[in-house]
Amino acid sequence: MSNILEVRDLVKRYEKDVLAVNRISFSVKEGEVFGFLGPNGAGKSTTISMITTLLTPTSGSVTLDGEDVVKNANSVRKTIGLVPQSLTADDELSGRENMRLQADLYGVPRKIAEERINELLGTVKLEEAADRRVDTYSGGMRKRLELAEGLIHRPKMLFLDEPTLGLDIQTREIIWEYIRKMKEESNMTVFLTTHYLEEADALCDRIAIIDEGEIKIIGTPAELKDSLGGDIINAIICEDTDLSGSILEMAGVSSAVREGFGYCIKTKDGERTEKDILAVSVREGWKIESISLHPPSINEVFLKYTGKSLRDEDRGSNRHEIRKQELQNIRRRG
Ligand SMILES: Nc1ncnc2c1ncn2[C@@H]1O[C@H](COP(=O)(O)OP(=O)(O)O)[C@@H](O)[C@H]1O
Ligand SMILES: [Mg+2]
Repeated sequence: MSNILEVRDLVKRYEKDVLAVNRISFSVKEGEVFGFLGPNGAGKSTTISMITTLLTPTSGSVTLDGEDVVKNANSVRKTIGLVPQSLTADDELSGRENMRLQADLYGVPRKIAEERINELLGTVKLEEAADRRVDTYSGGMRKRLELAEGLIHRPKMLFLDEPTLGLDIQTREIIWEYIRKMKEESNMTVFLTTHYLEEADALCDRIAIIDEGEIKIIGTPAELKDSLGGDIINAIICEDTDLSGSILEMAGVSSAVREGFGYCIKTKDGERTEKDILAVSVREGWKIESISLHPPSINEVFLKYTGKSLRDEDRGSNRHEIRKQELQNIRRRG
């Protein structure tokens, strides 16, 4: 598969001392869903803005579909669709009118536009609300409209900056379904940013973990989890002798730590090790009180590569973001 996006040594310095993006390099393959996972302030929006020609890089290069985004900005803009982090739809217009505006902006001929608008509004299930003013929409409906708007000119590559920010988990899952569906129907490449671990895990073919302007690691969700060294098994075995030596000899086990009767075991293949332990316990008469298997999560991956947990950060920053968006809306209306 060829690369549709190549980013090399990209840097953005806002002021003398704000290094928002610090020499990042990565590429995105045609047809994949590629995600930037990172906390607030990591540099996600800044990176998207540079790739989508809204912001000039301090240094480094970005090539999109073979064109330099600084030198050939106009042509790059026609190749891409962007759904920015902040709300963009006009509250006083209906969903359909917002779509028409977007179509005009990209010079889509009227007749073709009307067909596409109907089709896209159908895809995101907004047919019935299409002629209502956007200020009567829920947060999830707005986001669906903005997704549809981003596709009006049939972009080769779609950029979604925090597509489900502030939405509840059910609404987020519905949005994920639409993103998957739109991607399949139009064979697009998708680049998205998120600070939701579940979102990156559920939606992305590959994830880049970004923190403080730097990419810490890139891989498929499975590769990232595998890089932790496999599964964790917690077992309580009521034997006075230390069994960690015997457990360590089992296939795939990389560590076994004993604390009282409790054992914390790291293994490549949790299910197999669990079976092995049970088999030996029957043979040797070990008294197993409990045994549980924990496959690694993206949260643990994040912790390993950034030294911090995204879950804690999530709650506080999210509340702040929602507040910011509310204020923007009020200002727009007022
Ligand atoms: N226009 C700006 N001027 C100065 N600093 C900025 C500006 N925009 C963002 N920053 C700073 O750059 C860093 C990265 O921000 P941003 O790209 O918005 O991160 P993210 O989207 O991951 O939350 C943050 O420290 C932020 O405060
Ligand atoms: Mg952002």
